[in-house]
Amino acid sequence: MHCGQLPLTFLFLIFVSTSETCLLRDTISVLEGEHFYLKHCSLLPEDKNETATIKWFRDTGSQGRVELSSSSSSRITFHDYVLDFWPVELGDSGSYFFQMGNTTSEWKLNVIKRNKHSCFTEEHIFSICVNVKESLKITCENRFSGKLVNRTTLYKNCEKIGNNKNPFLQKNADFKDQGYYTCVFSLYHNGKLFNATKTYNVTVTDHRKITPVVLGPQVTHVRVELGKDIRLNCSASGDEKDRIDWNIGNRSRNVHEEEQTKIKTSEGKWRTSKILRIENINEKNLNFSYECVVQSRNGDQNSKSFILLKKEDLDDIPGHVFTRGMIAAVLISVVVVCLVIVGVIYRVDLALFYRHFMGRDETLTDGKTYDAFVSYLKECRPESGEEHTFAVETLPRVLEKHFGYKLCIFERDVVPGGAVVDEIHSLIEKSRRLIIVLSKSYMSNEVRYELESGLHEALVERKIKIILIEFTPLSDFTVLPQSLKLLKSHRVLKWKADKSLPHNSRFWKNLLYLMPAKTVKTYRDESEVLPCFCSPDLQKSGL
Ligand SMILES: *[C@@H]1O[C@H](CO)[C@@H](O)[C@H](O)[C@H]1NC(C)=O
Ligand SMILES: *[C@@H]1O[C@H](CO)[C@@H](O)[C@H](O)[C@H]1NC(C)=O
Ligand SMILES: *[C@@H]1O[C@H](CO)[C@@H](O)[C@H](O)[C@H]1NC(C)=O
Ligand SMILES: *[C@@H]1O[C@H](CO)[C@@H](O)[C@H](O)[C@H]1NC(C)=O
Ligand SMILES: *[C@@H]1O[C@H](CO)[C@@H](O)[C@H](O)[C@H]1NC(C)=O
Repeated sequence: MHCGQLPLTFLFLIFVSTSETCLLRDTISVLEGEHFYLKHCSLLPEDKNETATIKWFRDTGSQGRVELSSSSSSRITFHDYVLDFWPVELGDSGSYFFQMGNTTSEWKLNVIKRNKHSCFTEEHIFSICVNVKESLKITCENRFSGKLVNRTTLYKNCEKIGNNKNPFLQKNADFKDQGYYTCVFSLYHNGKLFNATKTYNVTVTDHRKITPVVLGPQVTHVRVELGKDIRLNCSASGDEKDRIDWNIGNRSRNVHEEEQTKIKTSEGKWRTSKILRIENINEKNLNFSYECVVQSRNGDQNSKSFILLKKEDLDDIPGHVFTRGMIAAVLISVVVVCLVIVGVIYRVDLALFYRHFMGRDETLTDGKTYDAFVSYLKECRPESGEEHTFAVETLPRVLEKHFGYKLCIFERDVVPGGAVVDEIHSLIEKSRRLIIVLSKSYMSNEVRYELESGLHEALVERKIKIILIEFTPLSDFTVLPQSLKLLKSHRVLKWKADKSLPHNSRFWKNLLYLMPAKTVKTYRDESEVLPCFCSPDLQKSGL
């Protein structure tokens, strides 16, 4: 006997008009050794015919229908419409008939062999199925109201539970309530105790109704590219028997439903999914709402969601945003380029500003005496020539008086004599820069060869930085000494006569830039100018 069969198989029609419950069922199963009775159901009161005699028959098969009498067996008694067995035995199986006038009833009795080792017999069990957390009720309903039931006892798996007076169980079902519940009714008859039992097989199930719900938003817009494939996944949470369907309208040939899959989630629910595959998406697939419906098993509950396919906008950025972005990018680039150009053009000014701002002074720790050694070499005097004026007057006026540098000017401070080359070397070593005023006449000067050796040393040993001032334009640089050709071109400054004269002219700025960084002390007193020949080395060498 399984769950669900109970209501039909064991349907008792109960009539409480008489003391015992009559039996309408045709086939009755009963346990060997228990008290049992058959009772005719007198449906209408006028059926009662007091004068009519009641007869009971049993079909024994071979001998045919035999009338039962009180004398035939002490176990079997009659009264009114009832036939009692004290107790019923295996041999009592068979068909029984009730006859009263024209009225008859018939039953088929099936006596089941008792299981001697248990309080119940598995073949004689009623099933009860109950959902977990729903009400479970087991009452030992007493069919023998007219007879004296001495005691009713309730057993669960053959262990006594509840009280003896009116045993019953009523609670919300739990899985541990599963088991065999046996009601034992004890009756006395002629001083003997008889039992009648009824056993329920209680099964606790989990068939609570779970409403199916499609997961995700109700309406989804999916961007697609024409010609591509797409898989739309519809998932729902609910019961195991839920069913998903894709409603795809007039079925296009490129739309396919795949098999439904399901998995059990940790909360005991089921996750059902079904894929809708659209191959080679075309215009017809666009702007159509694909409907996904999930239904519970009996279809009384459902949930839906929709998916719409939209063509992918290839330029996803709105036009005006794009334009503004481009303009901003161009502007930023222009600004950056301008800044770079300005930086390049005014790098000298910037560098000078930076030096000034930071108060840099690189002359403090190198142990040198002069900021620059100025060489202006001219073979043929007069000393009143332009180069001479520039080297001996203009340069010191600006660099020494105005910008506070300390110069050693060969023509001014060193008297040419015998050991000139040695002295030059010594002075160059004490100077941070070597300023050479180039002119055509310089190129032809014999002294330049002597100077050149010093120059070379300075360049190669990187003890000194050289600044070339191109006083008169040089058409042919090939005549320059090899060492000077190594100089970077930015270290060559061009003197542009009157244009270069003001203190804030580009020439002076460039020259300052090439000069060592020094905190400016403008307008020095003339007395502070230290002529080169005051240096002890030079004095030693006889100058
Ligand atoms: C009662 O039964 C007797 C004998 O079978 C019959 O003669 C009589 O008519 C019946 N009475 C009614 C009311 O059916
Ligand atoms: C009791 O019910 C359970 C669940 O339906 C079933 O598996 C079992 O066989 C039943 N026991 C008997 C003795 O019928
Ligand atoms: C049950 O039986 C016992 C023994 O015969 C008796 O003493 C007792 O009164 C009975 N109980 C009922 C409720 O009949
Ligand atoms: C009747 O049931 C009781 C338990 O309720 C038991 O002790 C007794 O032996 C049973 N009697 C018969 C005849 O089965
Ligand atoms: C569909 O989605 C569900 C839930 O997100 C997921 O469990 C399932 O694996 C997906 N199916 C496929 C084929 O991707």
